[in-house]
Amino acid sequence: MASTSPVHVTVTGAAGQIGYSLLFRIASGQLLGPDQPIVLRLLEIEPAMQALQGVVMELDDCAFPLLAGIEATSDLKVGFDGASWALLVGSVPRKAGMERNDLLKVNGGIFRPQGEAIAANAASDIRVFVVGNPCNTNCLIARSHAREIPDDRWFAMTRLDQNRAAIQLAKRAGVPVSDVANVAIWGNHSSTQFPDFENATIGGRPAPEVIDDQAWLQGEFITTVQQRGAKIIEARGASSAASAANAVVDSVRSIVTPTAPGDCASLAVISHGEYGTPEGLVFGLPIRSTGGTCHVVEGITHSDFAQQKIAATTEELESERAAVADLLG
Ligand code: NAD
Ligand code: LMR
Repeated sequence: MASTSPVHVTVTGAAGQIGYSLLFRIASGQLLGPDQPIVLRLLEIEPAMQALQGVVMELDDCAFPLLAGIEATSDLKVGFDGASWALLVGSVPRKAGMERNDLLKVNGGIFRPQGEAIAANAASDIRVFVVGNPCNTNCLIARSHAREIPDDRWFAMTRLDQNRAAIQLAKRAGVPVSDVANVAIWGNHSSTQFPDFENATIGGRPAPEVIDDQAWLQGEFITTVQQRGAKIIEARGASSAASAANAVVDSVRSIVTPTAPGDCASLAVISHGEYGTPEGLVFGLPIRSTGGTCHVVEGITHSDFAQQKIAATTEELESERAAVADLLG
């Protein structure tokens, strides 16, 4: 239900590439619905404040009826004050030839003070959604400095991988992407992720029945999804931005609206040991939402092949957690 009082949405890295696609979609009502006024709280570092002023002018010039206010700041307290959503995008993207976790040392330090500032200043219904890479482990860092905020309010983005997987399955099957459902990304937003084709459906039938090509599903399909971000960097000379912003909108919509029957949303959430995942890791899992609360889908079975893939991505997330031990609260 939309509230007439504005919801405060913080976006960090607001002057960056993703910010430039994302802010206008939020302000137009695509994030929280066409009746929900919004105040945008835009957090940047000092050197980017001038560029951010340009973005603010452009937001003004759209005259969005739902945009009740804009606060552009480099002050963490102001940035998160009263926020009900914190979309943590701000951080350095990788360059060609890097893995996302090569950014751990560069970006990890950003998320400790942000976690602390969220805990101290955000609204009591705050939900935090981490995009900046490596997003699972950055979410873990922020969360560890804001322990008073319940586990179910923390998310990292695996939705872009879900969308990438869905379109690959649709193209291979020769059907519209709207026929593809129940695509879950397991584990890390990285080149070890497991896009679960085994439980995906196409036109309501199991994907492996419609695409009767196990070699493609176990091989090219998985590597295409795992390597898509790197391919985009190679081609564009910059990491995905519009599709990433689109995935942020899809993710938040999937949290605040009920999941359709037979479908799931891919979100990285704090593990409570589901499917043997180590407790406390921010792990990509299939999620269903009631529109108010999210829960991990139960009862999914996996082949030995899938279990090996999930074990590999689990191991990577464990090693990322160990690598940032000094940044955890
Ligand atoms: P960008 O370099 O264009 O923009 C990043 C912005 O963050 C810059 O304006 C920078 O000034 C700002 N920033 C840096 N440190 C900050 C801090 N401490 N507080 C606030 N702002 C800060 O990068 P981009 O293309 O917008 O990508 C942002 C991040 O999102 C990268 O880490 C990228 O790898 C990641 N990403 C994740 C996914 C995903 O699926 N999870 C997809 C695409 C990109
Ligand atoms: C993506 O998946 O496109 C982003 O995480 C950017 C990257 O580094 O690949």
